[in-house]
Amino acid sequence: MALIKAANDPGIVQLGAAVPDPDYLPTQAVARAVARVARLQRTRAAGYMMPPGAPELRRQIARRMSETGGGISAEDIVITTGCQEALSLALRAVTQPGDVVAVESPAFYGLLHVLESLGLEALEIPAHPHEGMALDALAFAFERWPVKACVVVPNFSNPLGFCMPDTHKRALIGLLAKHGVPLIEDDVYGDLGFDHRRPSTCMGLAPDADIIHCSSFSKTLAPGLRIGWVAAGRHRERIEYLKYVSSIASPTVPQLAVAELLESGRYERYLREVRGKYASAVSRMGDAVMKYFPEGTRVSQPQGGFVLWVELPGTIDSFELARHALKQGVSIAPGPLFSASGKFRNFIRLSCARVWDERLERALTTLAGLVR
Ligand SMILES: Cc1ncc(COP(=O)(O)O)c(C=O)c1O
Repeated sequence: MALIKAANDPGIVQLGAAVPDPDYLPTQAVARAVARVARLQRTRAAGYMMPPGAPELRRQIARRMSETGGGISAEDIVITTGCQEALSLALRAVTQPGDVVAVESPAFYGLLHVLESLGLEALEIPAHPHEGMALDALAFAFERWPVKACVVVPNFSNPLGFCMPDTHKRALIGLLAKHGVPLIEDDVYGDLGFDHRRPSTCMGLAPDADIIHCSSFSKTLAPGLRIGWVAAGRHRERIEYLKYVSSIASPTVPQLAVAELLESGRYERYLREVRGKYASAVSRMGDAVMKYFPEGTRVSQPQGGFVLWVELPGTIDSFELARHALKQGVSIAPGPLFSASGKFRNFIRLSCARVWDERLERALTTLAGLVR
């Protein structure tokens, strides 16, 4: 919670939370769309938008998803309050408290918090830095544990940044089908590939498999809109009901505004601009870490998204480093947050979605000094 709260403090250089600086977001276009829908659809905007959510937004999401295969329709989509709620609803739809859920190791810490709060057991399966979840380890886990669901971030994972090759995605889907285990895919970074290619989704590759697809516009349009979605496959009715139970509905104005940004083509234009910016920001931050940090430091080579996973010399305790760094006005995400069992003690995650300036460079040299 200290890390989460630090994200609200403008006096701190934010390298911890994976939240883009507003300079990377299309804030003007978002503000205009919000103002326009609030004015032109005043009465509709004031009411509940009951699950599954605004039809025009679901149509636009389904259209974009269909471009990566699968023939998704608006009826398949349930609008949620961000990807975090999407993950929570997906897990609640297919598990009971006490169940075992296979996750990547390292995994996005928000997912681990959701698992913990639902009384689920996270079973960590090692993730390869280029290919994602190790399938031999997953197959081995199936022999020993009654795994009830598997959650992966196949495209530009957080924190490793890999993009699972299609052959690997297909093999994962096949392995899960063999054991009757549903796959929850989190595609929140899928639109942010550095080579401008939109990678496939597991749902697109295998429309008939038991897959629940979760995503949001938090990494692209604005996290504060809190608009995400679930393409729920065979679990749609249950997820619609769970969405209603947890928050009745997601706010109406942001749903209508996002629908407009998608329909007008503004979203695609923004993506074309920002992917290159993230590629440069990640590469620049990686170079700076290698320049300032001591020997023995290694950095990931993400293929998309905007976070770097940094391995520090083995003697470093990243929790202690994070505490000292926060006192000096810099927030970082310590490695053990990304594990359910305290792994990655000498790792940190850095968010690179910051405008490069003196303050940022100073923050990195401060961190490097603390590591030394
Ligand atoms: C992999 C991953 N999934 C989900 C989320 C949560 O997204 P949202 O802000 O849309 O709830 C994040 C945010 O950091 C994330 O990195």
